Amino acid sequence: MLQDLFTQVTEGRGQVVGVVGEPGMGKSRLLHEFRQTLRARAATVLEGRCVSYGGAIPYLPIIEIIRNNCGIVDGDGPGIVADRLAAGLREVGMPPTEWMPYLLHLFGVKDESGAIDALSPEAVKARTFETLRQLTLRGSRLRPLIFIVEDVHWIDKTSEEYLASLVENLIAAPIMLVTTYRPGYRPPGMDRSYATQITLRPLPRPDSLTVVQSALQGRGLSTSLADTILSRAEGNPFFLEELALSMGDQREPDHTIPHTVQGVIMARIDRLAEDTKRLVRTAAVLGREFPQKLLDRVWDGPGALHPHLLELKRLEFVYERAGIDESVYVFKHALTQDVAYEGLLTHRRQALHGAAGLALEELYADRLEEFYGALAHHFARSELADKAVTYLMRVADKAARVYANAEALTHLTDALGHVQRMPDGSQRDRMLLDVAQRKGFSLYFLGRFAESVECLLEHRARLDRLDDPVLAGPYYFWLAHMYSRLGRPELAVESARRAIEEGGRCGDDATVGKAHGLLALEGHWSGAAREGIEHGRTAVARLEGTAQQWWLGMAHIYMGFDYVLLGQWAEVQQAAASAIAVGEAISDTRLQCYAAFITSWIASMRGDGAVAVDDAERSRKLATDRVSGVYAAGFLGYAHVDRGEAETAIPLLDHAVRELEQFGFPQWHGMFTASLAEAYRLRGNTDRAFELAERGLALATSCRYWLGVGYAQRVLARIASDRGRQDEAAARFADALGTFTSIDARIEIGRVRIELAGLVADRHDRPGALRHAEEAESVLRDMDAPVQLARAHRLVSELRHPAPSGERP
Ligand SMILES: Nc1ncnc2c1ncn2[C@@H]1O[C@H](COP(=O)(O)OP(=O)(O)OP(=O)(O)O)[C@@H](O)[C@H]1O
Ligand SMILES: [Mg+2]
Repeated sequence: MLQDLFTQVTEGRGQVVGVVGEPGMGKSRLLHEFRQTLRARAATVLEGRCVSYGGAIPYLPIIEIIRNNCGIVDGDGPGIVADRLAAGLREVGMPPTEWMPYLLHLFGVKDESGAIDALSPEAVKARTFETLRQLTLRGSRLRPLIFIVEDVHWIDKTSEEYLASLVENLIAAPIMLVTTYRPGYRPPGMDRSYATQITLRPLPRPDSLTVVQSALQGRGLSTSLADTILSRAEGNPFFLEELALSMGDQREPDHTIPHTVQGVIMARIDRLAEDTKRLVRTAAVLGREFPQKLLDRVWDGPGALHPHLLELKRLEFVYERAGIDESVYVFKHALTQDVAYEGLLTHRRQALHGAAGLALEELYADRLEEFYGALAHHFARSELADKAVTYLMRVADKAARVYANAEALTHLTDALGHVQRMPDGSQRDRMLLDVAQRKGFSLYFLGRFAESVECLLEHRARLDRLDDPVLAGPYYFWLAHMYSRLGRPELAVESARRAIEEGGRCGDDATVGKAHGLLALEGHWSGAAREGIEHGRTAVARLEGTAQQWWLGMAHIYMGFDYVLLGQWAEVQQAAASAIAVGEAISDTRLQCYAAFITSWIASMRGDGAVAVDDAERSRKLATDRVSGVYAAGFLGYAHVDRGEAETAIPLLDHAVRELEQFGFPQWHGMFTASLAEAYRLRGNTDRAFELAERGLALATSCRYWLGVGYAQRVLARIASDRGRQDEAAARFADALGTFTSIDARIEIGRVRIELAGLVADRHDRPGALRHAEEAESVLRDMDAPVQLARAHRLVSELRHPAPSGERP
């Protein structure tokens, strides 16, 4: 099957293959045999492997693949790594100046050009994916490419996401993506027409017997013992081999044959000489693969370890793989390592992990970053709590830098556990705060707003105790940011003011600037837009020239929100352009995504439906994370509703509303619920519309988001009018008018008056209608909203000069 599929690949039809089977069923062996059948140079085979503790280390198997591809080995210094990567890029025609920074970043090598430092984690992730994709696609043009990732049931989220994107891209390229995994996992893309799953089933009896005989290498076996082995191993080749070897190790056949493959391995280990046993267990702590020099350092048994290592090799527990300047040993099978590891008592295990961590620190002192994952893994299992925390935070930061927030969160949660074990004192307090804040960031990016606040609040007493503005400023800023999202205006403002105060105490311009930016956003929520704009200006002044470029961009966006509320079209364009400029400078698509939806929003308001849809669609394309995707979908729905396109709008708004509810973001949850209500109203679904509009009103009111309140009131007015309750409609329009007036949302004031004029005219109150129309005209005359102004004009002139037939205007 693999060969047939490969033939298709050589003809340019990419294939995705999943090989699934229980441990020891022969997945790795199958791929090994497949590789042997390929003629040399018929294909480039790139292989990477996931490991059991690798689930929270972003890009782990991908990095291994690149290493193999570029010929990078353990022990290569940063200079050699850089050279090899550059050569790899040049081979496929990718200029290293452009692409190198991302690869270096993956390898934890400091990039001298500094190109990446200014980028947001999200931008780094997007560009890294693009680099990998280009490498793969261009590589496949030289020769068909076979991309093997083993044991993907242990894969990290980021690599999984990358493989998913590769699946989308390989359909028309000579690329074969082969993964192996145990039952229970389903890799991305298996539902594609060009995907095939191969299930490895137990070997039939005759084949099982062949495996046993070949493992025994000619040594005899009684028929009854052979029978027992065959029925016990149930056609699992690894079990068969181990059982046969286990019989072979023994002089006397032992009739107590273990029932599981683990049992067999355990029995084999038990029979080893004392020091050999000690060695296999020590090695098991180091991992499935380990360099001999690491084992040397950790070995604490009596005498030299070499003879024992040879013995393990002879017994096929491990095999040796030649490295460039060091030899690397590999456990023949993951289960062997597992069982040897399980044989250690807790205390001994901790001591060995601690020793392994310290040895790694010494051996690779000049390129530690590459080993953060392994260091965190070892120290987290040792008694060295402070080292565990240090390295867990470093891997978390590394993950967050590549926007792998789920992975970062795992490490940080782990780190918190270790800090708890440290002795009380200010060092512990600082560490707790440090970890908690990082956790707060990652939770936010994952849309878990309330948890982000909880995580910080838990440590407030500690913060007060430390009384250190350097810590307190950023802490209160983050609280303010989260409270603002959660629709808690007083708390947000109070926290922002506190951040400004603390930041001022220690000259922390960045925090002061960010907190003013937040107050600009609060101006939008609370309807005090002009005050908000003042804060926004302060924010920009403070943040320009600092390293906080992302927040500088956000300050422009927040001012943009204020201008949207005031209906000032040109100023919104200006704010969006400034945010885009920052976004481009730091390659951050999120800023550009936000900029596109604020221009869409004001375009809807001023009646430019086509522009509104275009901008919102662009915003959607630019959204790369879950949170911004939701905002963009909401505004696109909103733009469609404004054009009366209910059918297109409903699914978009429905999605946005559901997600915003989950995030706990009541302002836009309320606003988009009101839009969804309008969409249902347009479709004639009045009852559903009413229910939703009431809900939108309640949500927006609960967080005092007046713009949202006004939207909901207006929809309720239209619903009342549809239901023929004109008194109620007039009252509700008056409510909306009052709300929009209180926050000086001028274009909306004009729009409500136009609608009111229509309603009043229908009720034969021509002077009343004319008054509204004239008011609308006068408020819109000062705004840059020609479409709305034209509507007002038309209405005024029709009301002044009624058509002879006396029809309603
Ligand atoms: N068809 C076969 N014939 C003979 N030996 C086999 C066959 N398939 C597998 N083996 C042997 O069985 C052992 C286990 O196979 P392998 O390592 O491929 O299992 P696996 O499915 O990859 O397991 P895991 O899920 O633990 O990675 C190996 O020693 C391999 O050589
Ligand atoms: Mg395997």
